[in-house]
Amino acid sequence: MQAAALFWPEAQSTTAGSHVVCATRDDTSRVFSSQTVATPQATCEIVPIAQTETPPRPAMYRTHHCNALRAANIHEQATLAGWINSRRDHGGVIFIDLRDRAGLTQIVFRPEENAEVAAQSHHLRDEDVIQVEGRVAARLTGTENPKLETGEIELVVSRLTILNRAEPLPFPLDAEVANEDLRLTYRYFDLRRPRLSRNLRLRHRVAKATRDYLDGQGFLEIETPILSKSTPEGARDFLVPSRLTNGKFYALPQAPQQYKQLLMVGGIEKYFQIAKCFRDEDLRADRQPEFTQIDIEESFVRPDDIYALAEGMLAAIFKASRGIDIPAPFPRLTYREAVGTFGSDKPDRRFAMKLADFTDDFRASSFKVFRSTIDSGGVVTAINAKGFAGITIGQVDEMAAIAKNFGAKGLAFIKIENGEWKSPIVKFFTDAEKSALQEKLALEEGDLIFFAADKWDVACEVLGRLRLRVAEIQGLTKSSEELDFLWVTDFPLLQFDSAEQKWNAVHHPFTRPHADDLALLEEKRFGEMRAEAYDVVLNGVEIGGGSIRIHEPDLQAKMFAVLGISEEQQQTQFGHLLRAFRLGAPPHGGIAFGLDRLVMLICGEQSIREVMAFPKNNRGQDLMSQSPSEVDFRQLRDLGLKLAEEKK
Ligand code: AMO
Ligand code: AMP
Repeated sequence: MQAAALFWPEAQSTTAGSHVVCATRDDTSRVFSSQTVATPQATCEIVPIAQTETPPRPAMYRTHHCNALRAANIHEQATLAGWINSRRDHGGVIFIDLRDRAGLTQIVFRPEENAEVAAQSHHLRDEDVIQVEGRVAARLTGTENPKLETGEIELVVSRLTILNRAEPLPFPLDAEVANEDLRLTYRYFDLRRPRLSRNLRLRHRVAKATRDYLDGQGFLEIETPILSKSTPEGARDFLVPSRLTNGKFYALPQAPQQYKQLLMVGGIEKYFQIAKCFRDEDLRADRQPEFTQIDIEESFVRPDDIYALAEGMLAAIFKASRGIDIPAPFPRLTYREAVGTFGSDKPDRRFAMKLADFTDDFRASSFKVFRSTIDSGGVVTAINAKGFAGITIGQVDEMAAIAKNFGAKGLAFIKIENGEWKSPIVKFFTDAEKSALQEKLALEEGDLIFFAADKWDVACEVLGRLRLRVAEIQGLTKSSEELDFLWVTDFPLLQFDSAEQKWNAVHHPFTRPHADDLALLEEKRFGEMRAEAYDVVLNGVEIGGGSIRIHEPDLQAKMFAVLGISEEQQQTQFGHLLRAFRLGAPPHGGIAFGLDRLVMLICGEQSIREVMAFPKNNRGQDLMSQSPSEVDFRQLRDLGLKLAEEKK
């Protein structure tokens, strides 16, 4: 354990002679007289204190923040408070960059001006919290710092108060720290990084602009329960056992979906909420178990009304946070167009590399893989990875692994090098097939063609994933300056889960079938039905999604039945909703934005963890507070719970 000597103005002014304030590294400050200076934990430096006139203690913690003083303040007295950002010793003259949330001010301790205070400053370390009083002075000519807004001046310190000391730091604040777990363990410290504090400020601006905009449009912000009932949004619920009704559970909301629809039945007409949502799913860079939505619902609307509202809101958000005007209305692509052209329902269109369909061109192909796929109703598609012919063996393996992971049976490719088409499969191609490739893919020297032959959705997804990875390698996805917004519309309503042998809702069970496809419901052609559902995509990230809802009890019951929910289950799980719909439910629809994802993109970050104050790591743990954690057996007993025997 190390000891440190601290110097406290009160101590100095009370007694003349030897007097110290002592702190051990894991203890609070204590005042000792010179006789009691030795403690079991620490040895203290004893510093004789001269009997000098001490100026009266400033009335306020600070007169200015650390980004306030300018040349106009020269000769004024000022008091600042903050953290020691960095400290430089220039032959006895100590320069410190003092930091608070507003910025930095250089403070200087000059022995020739105040020897005693300058001596005290020798004991200061990075991240100590101090208060300094002094005189604003011009920096010497040539030592101004044009990078700092306070760069013309410095504060010559006449009084120093140490408000708190910092132990050795877990990691430097001014360098990238690759170990994210370490950063999250000390998140309160990590948050002092200028980048994170900027992100939290931008997040605040986004939330404020959202509230202001929606308020201006007549929306009411209404809170809905956190202890609620499971909503089938597609993820696993977090459950909360009830103490008052042992054996029963609340669920944390995956989204306030049913509540917002019930508010429409309640005549609210325009609802929004910046809402916490909880989903127990596998985590990724843009997924957290606990995240925030800008959740919106409105009565008597069509999709166009929601598009206009959302575009207006996003325009207000980008203006307030980045000061830019975004072009609206956003382009729209149907789900089939998006997937068929970009291999994704959240296409990143900042680069082209579009999928091209060659099914018709290869119908009579002598290459068996293509021919048999087409004969069995599949497709042959390809992308041109421009300038990628120099692909390394490692990259080929990586691409093949991606393709396999997304269901491909193989990955054929052709390199165009030295005017030649290089691939073992080229020998099967006719001139007509080659010129079809040449033409549709606009092939040039140095290009590389990837092929996928499979069912339409598998082939598109495989090429979509390769397209993204190639773009990432080529650095085409980095710019956060270019903003590519779009709506993806006409999603499929239902998807067959072959493992479970049942139909699932693509969006959620409350989504309205497309008016033109209602007949398909009666004909049980579920896979062909489109939904009145839409997503907003920004730079390849789904930032929001919503739909027009079913408001008729009979149609809703029919939809539940298609999803395999028995009449009895409908009553126990959704009885409240079905009853509500029988009391005059208005037509309604809405949307929810992932606030964290939106702020991530606004900040140019790669992970939503960088825009959340206290995120969980990718194993769902809060490393700072060590949560989840074990609980006392009495807590479990009160809840009527018993842990299953641990597996031996
Ligand atoms: P959906 O499930 O599409 O729709 O969610 C809406 C938006 O929330 C964000 N999001 C997430 N962000 C971070 N971590 C997660 N785990 C996570 N999951 C989703 C996404 C997504 O677009 N109730 C419906 C909305 C509606 O129909 O009105 C819903 O929740 O950006
Ligand atoms: P094969 O005839 O199985 O040796 O395959 C010849 C080439 O086609 C190899 O490069 C395979 O990886 C590739 N290939 C096989 N199946 C497919 C497929 N479904 N789509 C695209 N390429 C494939």
